[in-house]
Formats: sequence, structure tokens, C-alpha cells
Amino acid sequence: MRVHAVDAAHPDPRAIAQAADALRAGQIVVFPTETVYGLGALALDRDAVKRVFEVKGRPATHPLIVHVLGEEEAKAYAAEWTPLASELARAFWPGPLTLVVKKADFVPSEVTGGSDAVALRAPSHPVARALLSALGRNEAIVAPSANRYQSLSPTRAEHVVSSLEGQDLFILDAGPCPSGIESTVVDVRDTEPRVLRPGALSIPALRAVAPSLAYVRGIEADESASRASPGQDKRHYAPRTPLMCAASRSAALDRARVLTEHGDRVSVVLFGESLRHDEQDPHAAIHVLPSDPEAAGAALFALFYELDRQKYALIIVEPPPDAPGWEAIADRIARASVASANTLGV
Ligand code: TXA
Ligand code: MG
Repeated sequence: MRVHAVDAAHPDPRAIAQAADALRAGQIVVFPTETVYGLGALALDRDAVKRVFEVKGRPATHPLIVHVLGEEEAKAYAAEWTPLASELARAFWPGPLTLVVKKADFVPSEVTGGSDAVALRAPSHPVARALLSALGRNEAIVAPSANRYQSLSPTRAEHVVSSLEGQDLFILDAGPCPSGIESTVVDVRDTEPRVLRPGALSIPALRAVAPSLAYVRGIEADESASRASPGQDKRHYAPRTPLMCAASRSAALDRARVLTEHGDRVSVVLFGESLRHDEQDPHAAIHVLPSDPEAAGAALFALFYELDRQKYALIIVEPPPDAPGWEAIADRIARASVASANTLGV
């Protein structure tokens, strides 16, 4: 691994030029976006795209997001660019929104996992934008989150190093990603837009522009969603440590108390309000995430990586608030706990 530290707001042009050269030479470059770190390759370099799948250990049928500078560049990769695609791109790009449209013929089927749709996004992170600018107008970068298949997305370069140990990668390290949760994926092929993956751009924000936006909440929706968005796997986004989502805060604390009395090292993750004095348990490690969903999302994966490092027997999470704006966090926690269910035997 070659890790190059760069300033997040004003990356050194020499480091960016080196990263662009590495991409042109068919290599994989890890770069920060405003959501999570991406494992980047040139979108039209089929061999490099195939290597992205190998490095990640991801099945070839799971498509990759194509990163571009903006709407003009995105249009070139689409066979059809609907008025709705335009409206959403103008409202939210650059930013954490991915639009699924019909692909242009030249987009390699390796990128789309054989589908005739392509997912496009214009990231806002200055390092991602500098890299795209250095490549030139017609180039785009495919980038899945820079982690092994089915594990947590990396929000810091250290997470990439621990998740993809032993791989020969060029890493641009610009510190923590500000949103910390992946982009929101919206299918805009029909007149009725549909959320395929809730993410950093909230559903309420999207509905302010597209009031008819459909979102079927929860992993029960996966059966139908998996046809439209094959990368949506129940076992995504899981820390290595078994994780369970308790029915309530008091259930989480009760469970933690029983387990710590049995000598297990347990960690509890809460949202918003800190514990009252009479709820404090001196034995369980309690982490309180912020009451604002954006701030909680920014901290969530970094906390899970840290808890993995501390090797707890179990992470118990209280249900996140059942309120607009919390959809992405609720989705990631539900997936992480389903992923753990086999390990836990529940
Ligand atoms: O924030 C993000 O989106 C990050 C950064 C690096 O941009 N990338 C990311 O990529 O999370 P990945 O590969 O881990 O997740 C891609 C998501 C999956 O849910 C996948 O199903 C969906 O986008 N997707 C990609 N291409 C698609 C396509 N052609 N049709 C439908 N869904 C697609
Ligand atoms: Mg991913």
C-alpha cells in the first residue's frame, strides 16, 4: 500500500497528478468522497474494473457506481437522461446522490454487472473532484466503497488499510469523510422515482424536490429491490463483532447488564440522549451518538471500526429514532444485525 496524505480542501496537485497517472496506467486508486472512501478505477478500462471486483471480493453481478464531475459528463454515460434526472442532479450535485438511468452502449457490462442500467454520481469532495478534473472531461471513475465485500464502508484511510490489508493500492488519505454514510441511490428510469438505497442525502430532502419519491423501508423490501439493485445484500455493512439491535433502550441496557454479569465484554450504542444517572452501568461500555442524524451518520461506521478493534463479544444497539431523516442509519443497523444473526444463533 502506498498512502499519500493530502489536504482535504486543497489537495497537493502533484499527489493528484500521480493518482491520475496511476489510474491511467490501469491501477486502482483509493480516494475520499464526502460519503466514504472509494476503490477507484477508470470506468472504461475493463481490466482495471475486473480487478476492483477481485480486490473487493465482490460478485461480478453487483454493479459499480460511475463517478463524474457533473450533469454534462453524466449525460454522456446515459442512453436516456430524463427531466427528473436533470432536476435531481441540478438540486443535489455535486453531492451524495446516485442516479440510476439507462446506460449508454459503450459503458462496459462489467461496470453494470450485466444490467442495462448505470448508476451515476458527481461527488462533492474536493479530492474526488480534483482527481476527476485531472483525468479530463470524458473520463469517469468507478468506485465501490473501499472495503472487503459485505463489511463496513471505510470513512477513514486507516479503515481501508485494515479492510484491504495486503493489497497493492495507491491511497489518497484526506482524513475522515464528512458524511460517513454511503450515497442515496435513486432509480429515475420511470416517472416515479424510487429509492434503491437510503443514504447520506435524506429522504425528506429528496422529497422536497421529488414529492412522488417512493421508499419502501426495511430489508423486507430487498426481494423486489434486489432485482433493480443487485448490490443490495442483506449481509452488507456489518462490523466483524456480532451486533444486535435491541427492541428498546431499556432492553439494550438489560441485556448488556446480564451479559456483563456473566463476564462478557459488551458495548452498547445509543442515539441522542445520554443515560440518566440511575441507568448507568459501570461495566458495559456505552457510546452515545449525536441526536442529529447527519452527525450520527458521520460517526457510525468509525465507531463500529473502533469497536471491532476493541474486540467486544457483542455490540448492542438501541433502535435509532423512528423519524424522517434517520432512514439510512436504520437501514444500516438492520442489515448489520441481520448479518450477525447467524453468528449469534438468533
Ligand atoms: O457513497 C457511495 O455511493 C460510495 C462512494 C465511494 O461513492 N460508493 C458505494 O458503492 O457505496 P458500492 O458499490 O459500495 O454501492 C453501490 C450501490 C449498491 O447498492 C448498488 O446496488 C447500487 O449502488 N448500484 C450500482 N450500480 C447500479 C445499477 N446499474 N443499477 C442499480 N443499482 C446500482
Ligand atoms: Mg459498499
